[in-house]
Amino acid sequence: MNLRQYIDDKMTAALAESGADGAPAVVKQAGKPEFGHYQANGVMGAAKKLKTNPRELAGTLVENAALDDIATTEIAGPGFINITLTRSFIERELERLAEDVRFGVEQAEAARIVVDYSSPNLAKEMHIGHLRSTAIGDTAVRILEFLGHDVIRANHVGDWGAQFGSLLAYMAKLSAQGETLATELKDLELFYQKASELFKTDEAFAAEARQYVVRLQNGDNECLALWSQFIEESLSHCDAIYQRLNISLTRDDARAESAYNDDLAGIVTSLTDKDMITESEGAKCVFLPEFTGKDGEMVPAIVQKSDGGYPYIATDLAAVQYRTSELAADRALYFVDARQALHLSQLFAISRAAGLLGDQDFRHVAFGTILNKEGKPFKTRTGDAVKLADVVDEAVQRAADLVKEKNPDIDDDTRAAIAEVVGIGAIKYAELSKNRTTDYIFDWDTMLSFEGNTAPYLQYAYTRIRSIFRRADIDADSLEGTFTLEEQPEMVLAIKLLQYPETISAVVEDYQANILTNYLFELAGMFMSFYEACPVLKAEPAVMASRLKLCKLTSEVLAHGLSLLGIKTVEQM
Ligand code: ARG
Repeated sequence: MNLRQYIDDKMTAALAESGADGAPAVVKQAGKPEFGHYQANGVMGAAKKLKTNPRELAGTLVENAALDDIATTEIAGPGFINITLTRSFIERELERLAEDVRFGVEQAEAARIVVDYSSPNLAKEMHIGHLRSTAIGDTAVRILEFLGHDVIRANHVGDWGAQFGSLLAYMAKLSAQGETLATELKDLELFYQKASELFKTDEAFAAEARQYVVRLQNGDNECLALWSQFIEESLSHCDAIYQRLNISLTRDDARAESAYNDDLAGIVTSLTDKDMITESEGAKCVFLPEFTGKDGEMVPAIVQKSDGGYPYIATDLAAVQYRTSELAADRALYFVDARQALHLSQLFAISRAAGLLGDQDFRHVAFGTILNKEGKPFKTRTGDAVKLADVVDEAVQRAADLVKEKNPDIDDDTRAAIAEVVGIGAIKYAELSKNRTTDYIFDWDTMLSFEGNTAPYLQYAYTRIRSIFRRADIDADSLEGTFTLEEQPEMVLAIKLLQYPETISAVVEDYQANILTNYLFELAGMFMSFYEACPVLKAEPAVMASRLKLCKLTSEVLAHGLSLLGIKTVEQM
């Protein structure tokens, strides 16, 4: 159960019984150990409304709440209520949590949720910037599915538009020269570079490229065949990266922009029918009062260009329609760079005004940019975007070096397997542990450190717990006995474990994965303090049994939390 919620519900009900109907009890985890485990902070606000004495109201509230069987309470200051869970309650609840495959996390009322994430443009290879949407979005997907929602992954890949002109022209040129395209396309990045170089330097080629855009749009067969070949190749590059990064997207989740081509004209017609279109210099625009520029003039969204072409937002409008009608989504989350905030707010506003979107909750989950150590946007020395595939290779290489340093005797195969898990875990965790809305600095040394709030630290903590069982030759799956929590560090660890469900709920309130990473980091720290202070294998039998159960549960919650982040664990490092 969600412990915070449980206490909040009880306290809020008691507050109503005490005369403050509708006032929230505002129960939070206590800020300091001397305030107990939870605090109810809503009494002062409620008393103000009722014009009564807050300490008196707090007294009545505490009586009505009847928390006796779970906690002791204390009224502090002007009317705060400090709540300290009793040992017997903690032991009882921990027993239940340990027995539960869901670690106390309740199923939510299932909603159908479209999660739009990763969504790279296929005219380029995935670069480091894609790590954010991909890692954060995939965590949301995993958590929402674990909560019991019906999640539809939507990889809205860009596979259409003018960028494809030079690529197609270059493909045509190579095949005319008798080159095998499959071989040339193996190094996609080089392929793009050569094509765009030609576009810049060769007039005839550039003209050809523009011609290809027109032919593509007109559905010319030869052109479409080249295009499909290119898209296939590019998508398999993405798939390879997803697989290596342990991202749960598959080919079936990619619904590319071109899939909406046939719906675009209809979208513009229906906007026209609703009198939402204003023509401006041949382009079809939607003006909405909520979007005004600095000068107070309305900022238009162009839904069809003067040459008849459809811009990015037109496809997105069609995707909204598809998601609400075809997919019957109750909600949709767009994990997209904060720089697209205007685009997405225009998208949702136009969709609402046009009736494509009703009371469904569609929202932009924004995130900041990845910066280098100097605080500048990440680029290679030559000024190009850093390929995601290269970042992954480097992470794994660096992890292999670290593992070798820490544990030189490990054989090569085992080391390679560990390095894969640690290196990938490190780059994903670095993403997930930051506040998603701010820019963040990509720093190899910090993310691969075995100390601090990192994946290697947590993965290592996990292996340490597992090794307790290995060394003592105890089967963690056949532990007997019950929890008896005698020492303070045991209690602290136990309460943290009981707070796993409320942590998961807090993450999905606003898709802040760092709430979960912080939790896991603190959990590991509390485990280390417990392990230092409380002997496990040398304790007398009943205490040893209880402590072994604490070890086991901690390792399970660590591994489960990491799995929700899409991060794997290993048995030794
Ligand atoms: N392909 C876009 C880009 O790389 C991101 C798409 C995000 N999703 C969407 N429905 N607009 O910028």
